[in-house]
Amino acid sequence: MEYIIETNKVSKTFNGKKILDEISLKVKQGSVYGFLGNNGAGKSTTIRILLGLLKVDRGDVTIFGDKIAISNATYKQHIGCIIDSPVLYEHLNAAEFLQLTRLLKNLPKTEISRVLEIVGLADNKKLIISNYSLGMKQRLAIANSLMGQPRLLILDEPTNGLDPQGIIDVRNLLKNLPEQDNCTVFLSSHLLDEVEKIATDVGAIQQGKMIFQQSLSELINDALGCLSLEITEPKLALDLLVSKGFSLDIQSNSQITITNIEKQHCPSVHQLLINNNIEIFQSRYQARSLEQCFQKFNQQVN
Ligand SMILES: Nc1ncnc2c1ncn2[C@@H]1O[C@H](COP(=O)(O)OP(=O)(O)OP(=O)(O)O)[C@@H](O)[C@H]1O
Ligand SMILES: [Mg+2]
Repeated sequence: MEYIIETNKVSKTFNGKKILDEISLKVKQGSVYGFLGNNGAGKSTTIRILLGLLKVDRGDVTIFGDKIAISNATYKQHIGCIIDSPVLYEHLNAAEFLQLTRLLKNLPKTEISRVLEIVGLADNKKLIISNYSLGMKQRLAIANSLMGQPRLLILDEPTNGLDPQGIIDVRNLLKNLPEQDNCTVFLSSHLLDEVEKIATDVGAIQQGKMIFQQSLSELINDALGCLSLEITEPKLALDLLVSKGFSLDIQSNSQITITNIEKQHCPSVHQLLINNNIEIFQSRYQARSLEQCFQKFNQQVN
């Protein structure tokens, strides 16, 4: 099974308004999949459908290789999730709180120390949860969702409301989970910088429609970047490069920037300049960020 989650043209309407319009997700096993979209785009609605909390109007959802059905919820035993704000019993300490989940799920005692170790809270397990920082609470909620070693973790905006240190802690935790706990992570977010640091794969929805879905590295590499060059003879270089169809700016009498160029075309630009006796002192290629890619696709839709 290549995909842990696969949805096929899932559509959902609320009060006559189409909220999800033929959403087809493909989430690879062992990936950290960042599900992007602005406020109100339909991320939480999609997550509620994946978790069987909402029925689709049209389309189908396959998780762990089987189509999900309201009548058969066994697939949920292998999913850990946090939707909305995590509910923690704050008068308990972490070990006591996780003990409740352990008993409910009938898991071995070792499971508590295993998940506390993963989220880096082993040293704080006796501290009352109300004394935890927001980031520690979020990590505890993730520990709770990892009880029983789920194959899939679904998180709706996991870094929402956290301070910079909390964001870093949760980021490091989520990034390492596939390898550390053999678990696929599906997380929604509108924080593009954050997703760029965590995800291996990304998909985005805008007004209920998928606007892209790709591995992060392919998305960034396929997007056209900028090549900044420090050279002799910038005017001659400009003429040469324009004649080859490049668009570019002259910044100073030694600096030019080629906008919208694929990375693999940079060596031929260098060669062209050298062949024309133009000396290159510095050359720097800057790839697009996830944010720039998102904006580009967004503009295409609007
Ligand atoms: N139960 C419901 N009844 C009616 N409309 C709903 C319901 N649930 C969601 N919506 C609408 O569906 C749209 C998508 O909402 P959703 O919560 O999925 O967005 P989101 O991408 O998670 O946004 P955010 O980033 O703000 O969390 C919104 O316009 C919302 O008002
Ligand atoms: Mg939401």
